[in-house]
This record gives sequence, structure tokens and C-alpha cells, in this order.
Amino acid sequence: MLSLGEELLQYQNQEFLSFHTPGHKGKREFFEGLNFPEQDLTELPGLDMLHTPQGVIDKAQKRAAQVFGADESFFLVNGATAGNQAMFLSLAGIKGKVLVGRQSHRSVMAGLVLSGLEPIYIKPIIHPEFHLPLGYDFKIEPQLWGEIQGLHLTYPSYYGTLSDYKPIVQGRDVWGPNVPILVDQAHGSHYLSKLFPPSALEWGADLVLNSSHKTLSALTQAAMLHVQGERISRSRLRQSLELLQSSSPSYLLMASLERAVEFAQKGKCWELLFEAVQELHQCAGKVLRILNSEDQGQYGIEQIDWSKILVNTSSIGLAAPLGVDFLRTHFRIEPELWDQENILFLLGIGNTPEEVRRLTEGLVAMVQWFESTKRSEGTTLMPCKDTQDFTEGAGLPLPPLRLTPREAFLAPKCQIPLKESLGKIVGESISPYPPGVPWIMMGEEMTPELLEVLLNFPSNRYQGWDNPEQGIWVIEEG
Ligand SMILES: Cc1ncc(COP(=O)(O)O)c(C=O)c1O
Repeated sequence: MLSLGEELLQYQNQEFLSFHTPGHKGKREFFEGLNFPEQDLTELPGLDMLHTPQGVIDKAQKRAAQVFGADESFFLVNGATAGNQAMFLSLAGIKGKVLVGRQSHRSVMAGLVLSGLEPIYIKPIIHPEFHLPLGYDFKIEPQLWGEIQGLHLTYPSYYGTLSDYKPIVQGRDVWGPNVPILVDQAHGSHYLSKLFPPSALEWGADLVLNSSHKTLSALTQAAMLHVQGERISRSRLRQSLELLQSSSPSYLLMASLERAVEFAQKGKCWELLFEAVQELHQCAGKVLRILNSEDQGQYGIEQIDWSKILVNTSSIGLAAPLGVDFLRTHFRIEPELWDQENILFLLGIGNTPEEVRRLTEGLVAMVQWFESTKRSEGTTLMPCKDTQDFTEGAGLPLPPLRLTPREAFLAPKCQIPLKESLGKIVGESISPYPPGVPWIMMGEEMTPELLEVLLNFPSNRYQGWDNPEQGIWVIEEG
């Protein structure tokens, strides 16, 4: 087996075109003047301190706040993961319930465990063609506003879909003026131009998280947390970040963030990419189902971020993994992710219009190749399992919450056969994939209807199930 370094070099030498994170796409122009290893430094004279910034880091963070429209911005060196955790910890003193999207990133679960807050989950809407959780319907009953102490939204989703936030903002204005809105805008760090949806800071979110390495030019793991207004205690937020982040923050990561802020303002590159993506839709969209602006206004999708290209291959009968093999082998195109029927391509600030055109060519060629193979073999290459079943499972009522994620995480647990778990409080979170919506979360009680569905699914199709052969983790009784 190769060493990690050798494997990296081998991967690099294949010269794939990147349609995945990080957003700089390996382009050196974003890092000119940043020297490795000479500038891999620690807190030295003149270099300031991340946890008590008063010099150059303070200046760079203030500049970020100015550019992104926040009152204050914090550099994160442990990814947006630390940002989600810090957002929840900053509410921890409040004690109470928070509304959380069921389809949130796993760092949100970590935030719930760390903070001890009690979640009220909102279920996403599964799109009937893509079989993915692409939207939410944020109708919050007025009485719920009295119960909740905070609200966490993901905006946009991994796939670039955005739900209508207006009912939330309007609801808060009327029923819960003190309820903070925390927004995981990890995949929307680039929302600075009119070509994109507004940043959540614009519509009044209190805390907004950017994973600046996903679409902007920061190095992987570099992210930012923005805050505005008075609903969030700044000192609690600072303490939370200090608790979670490394005491040896990488200066290369922080310097890449400073650079990313300046590059983020250059809207021209996005304009050029936008034109190329329109061409892609006109061309490849004729032969493939691609999520597009006409999908807005349905299934909880209010807007679509065009820089994420979600292609569904089941419409032509092609299994997505075969399509990915074709694109990798013949066009050196590397997507962000795929499942059995969808392929996701992510654009970043480092992509060029030529690269998008190459993707268009690749997609069209993929369809032609598949059509001819199908014809010559007289058969379809489609080994897709019908993901409808998963959608139905995700449609079940949410199981009752018996313990908060923190209580469930810390409680003594044991593994028992799945068939014996009826009525038990589950100690792990289980999500069938695709579409990856958790069917049961840590601290919830196993219901008869859920158990029946779980027993009928192959365990290798679940994410987050810790060693299913040995059973399911439940909270020990008594
Ligand atoms: C919605 C969302 N939030 C947060 C994160 C965590 O971001 P990071 O990789 O910067 O820690 C991710 C990572 O994929 C994500 O998809």
C-alpha cells in the first residue's frame, strides 16, 4: 500500500477537473505570497492571537465583517464544524428547546450534545424525482414560538436548494422577537452578489456560518462565523469558540481566509461561470434531468443556487455510479458526490468557464455513450434499487424524543438485536442512504412502524449505524 503522501501525489498526477470542494480548485493564484513551509508559524511577535485578537488577526476579521455585512466575524480553523458547535454552545445558558432541521450536518448533532439543548426537529420534504431532501416548509405554529429559545436552519442545502425563510422571519417579528436564528450557510459563503440568493445576514439571522473553503478560496478547514445584533451574547460566543478551537491555529489557514475575503468580492468570475452554467442547462439539460430554476416554488424549494449542479441519471435509465466512471475515465471530471441516481457537481471561485464547458461536453457524451451501449447490448445498465422505499421511510412520523441528545450521549448504553428494540430509547442515529435523512436520532424511542421498516432494509444502506451486525445501541434501563 502507498503512503498517504504517495497516494496524494498519485491523485494529483491524474489531473482531475475539480467539481468538488475546496473552492480554490487547486489554483495557485489564490495563494501567491503565501509560503509553505516558511509561514507555517505560531503566535510570534507581531502575529497576534486568534483567541484574543488585537493586531493583524483582529484587522483581518474586521475586514471580513465589513465585506460580509456582519457586526463581527470570527475566523475558524476547525472548519464550519466548530462553528455549528459554537452556535449551539452560545445558546447553552438559555436552557430550552431549539428548532432544528432533521437534515442538518452532523456537527449540529454535536452542537446539541455539547449544549444540552432539546431539539424539535423539522422534517425536510423529499423531492419525488431526485429522492433527496431538497426543501423545507417552515410553517411554525404561533404557540411554538413561546416554547423555543432558538432556531437552526441550513441555507442552502448541500444540493444548493434554499427554502423560504420569510415565514420564520415574519413569525419571529410577531411572536418571538428574542428568538435567535442560527444559519448554517456553509455551502453559501459566496452569497455576496446579485447572482446568488441573499446571505442570511441580509434577512436578519443572528449567527451565520460560512465554510469558506467549500466555494471560496480558503484552504480546507478554514471557515468563518458571523454575528450581528444583540440576541447572541458575544462573550459567550467567544468562550465557546475558545473551548472548541485549537490553541495552535494555523496561520496558513488564517491567512488564506484573509485572502478569501478579498477574492470573494470579485464577482466577475461568477458572472462568467453563470453564463457557462446556462449553456450547460441548455445543452445537457435537453438530455438529462438537471435541477433548475423551474424547480423553484415546489417541494419546499424557494430558490436554487445555480453553482451547484444536481444531475439525475435515472431519467435516462443510467445508474449514476456508471455515469461517474465514464466522466472520470474519459473526461477526467471529478464530482463532489453521487448516489445511485444523482451526481452533484460543485462550482467554486476557482473554476473557469472552460471547465464548465468541459463538464457540459462530458455530460452530453455520457448520455450518447449510454444510449449506444444500451442499444448494442439491448439492455439497460440501470442497477438502481428503487429509492421510493427510502422516501416512504422518511415519511413516517418522527419518533418521540425521550432524552435530549446530550442525555442520550452520556447515558450508559448496550447493543441489542434490532428486533428487540421496540420501545427502547435509541443511543445512536440511523440514516438510510440515500437520501440520508435520519429515521431515528439519539434519544428517540423506537416505534413499531419504524422498527418494521428498519427490519426490512439491508443494514449496509444505513449511515451512522455503529456495527449493525452486533445490533443497535440503546440506553440501558434502570
Ligand atoms: C451543511 C454543512 N454544514 C457544516 C459542514 C461542516 O463544514 P466543515 O467541513 O467546514 O467543517 C458541512 C460539511 O460538509 C455541511 O455540509
